[in-house]
Amino acid sequence: MPRIPDGLKITWLGHATFLLETQGGKRVLIDPWVMGNPACPDDRKDVGDLDAMLITHAHFDHIGDAVEIARDKTPQVVSIPETSHWLGDKGVENLVEMNKGGTVEVAGIRAHMTHAVHSCGLPDGSYGGEAAGYVIELEDGFKLYHSGDTAVFSDMALIGKLLEPDVALLPIGDHYTMGPRSAAEAVRMLGVKTVIPMHFGTFPVLVGTPDDLRREAGDMDGLEVVDLEPGGTLGG
Ligand code: NI
Ligand code: MN
Repeated sequence: MPRIPDGLKITWLGHATFLLETQGGKRVLIDPWVMGNPACPDDRKDVGDLDAMLITHAHFDHIGDAVEIARDKTPQVVSIPETSHWLGDKGVENLVEMNKGGTVEVAGIRAHMTHAVHSCGLPDGSYGGEAAGYVIELEDGFKLYHSGDTAVFSDMALIGKLLEPDVALLPIGDHYTMGPRSAAEAVRMLGVKTVIPMHFGTFPVLVGTPDDLRREAGDMDGLEVVDLEPGGTLGG
């Protein structure tokens, strides 16, 4: 059985985009690539009301629909300062800039910004700051780690020790991020027992699969690698 609290819904909209519906009734979108996301089912392309939007980094496949969705839904929008300033120049309001190591409270949840080993250019070629991830602490203390795009890095052990995530949303596609073997090492360092794979299958080069991760992580007793289809929801 999935180990998430009653009332929490985690919906994968494809690629690195997730919609959280929290136990407290808040709606949080992570990495707003929705209308342009070929993996997102058509009937999920209206994300509904939003209380908060968290952006890991400025590559198009993470920020592609941020401006349009933010203007339409007016959530609080969390990102690293350089990306936040760019969003402000595009007319996005309710911006919450932060940086790695810090924690902000938005819409009743706490977002800790973590390191990621990746690049970060905005769609127009300007500098977006650095790529990041988040540990998101929900109203009841349950914590999700969305790593953003990243290679594996040994300080994931610190994220595990200091922030103690319960669930990890990790890229496994390879090519632009870590693949399954590295992701299995990430799971060991984080100490999580539930993993939702992401950033695979969207494009042919993103070759890693959840079964590859299961095989690489076969030594970890009790680990659950959750199989979601794009549009699919864990919890309810
Ligand atoms: Ni990226
Ligand atoms: Mn990406």
